[in-house]
Amino acid sequence: MILHKFKTQADLDRAAADLIISVVRSKTNAVLGMATGGTPVGLYKEIVKTYQQGLISFKEARTFNLDEYVGLPVTHPESYRAFMQRNLFDHIDIKPENTHVPNGNAPDIDAECRRYDEMLYQQGPVDLQLLGIGHNGHIGFNEPDTELSRFTYKVTLKEDTREANKRFFNSLDEVPTHAVTMGMGTIMQAKMILLVVKGQEKAEILDRTLNGPITTQVPASLLQTHPRVIVMTDCDVQYKVSH
Ligand code: F6R
Repeated sequence: MILHKFKTQADLDRAAADLIISVVRSKTNAVLGMATGGTPVGLYKEIVKTYQQGLISFKEARTFNLDEYVGLPVTHPESYRAFMQRNLFDHIDIKPENTHVPNGNAPDIDAECRRYDEMLYQQGPVDLQLLGIGHNGHIGFNEPDTELSRFTYKVTLKEDTREANKRFFNSLDEVPTHAVTMGMGTIMQAKMILLVVKGQEKAEILDRTLNGPITTQVPASLLQTHPRVIVMTDCDVQYKVSH
């Protein structure tokens, strides 16, 4: 893993945006794995700025989002499809048919998970997967557990995850209890992974991700086994290279 530390979130957002832009510049039909939540909002703004300056095109790019809530209408402002439209897709020249977010309202969720994996298999591997991290170490919505799923699946969200995401809703009751998420196997197949971690309150989980034992109880710790992971953070953490 490579750790890049930034003094300000603005600098971090710009560097993360630049990395994503460089991938699309070097391969116009790049496949990008996208994340939602609070973390990527600023870096998506930077990408939009660069697009508006005429310095990048996403005409041939394809995107696959990590996850989507189950049972939340896509028109709900907090659905991850709506989030992506509002924060990125509506402001750049990506073709709508090239943007993929799991359908959390599919009548047969298991079939939807299979469809998503098959699409990823046909169009992948993902060139750059963007990730945030939950306070409990989840990536995508792969929650800490005794075992992790390889493929896309329907997950029951942990209460601490629902609590953390309550800030986007009017109350905890409104936060969906389930989501569809890419599995760990799919995430780990990306050629390159960019993990963005913002805020000192995530320093402890980032330290466990970088330096702790590799365990399914901290799903992000599995990233230690991936050959090309770049971590960008404003947290005060160290990356230990030996005991
Ligand atoms: C979002 C996702 C999640 C978030 C994580 C952090 O698509 O997959 O893993 O990245 O929950 O969320 P924020 O950025 O809101 O702290």
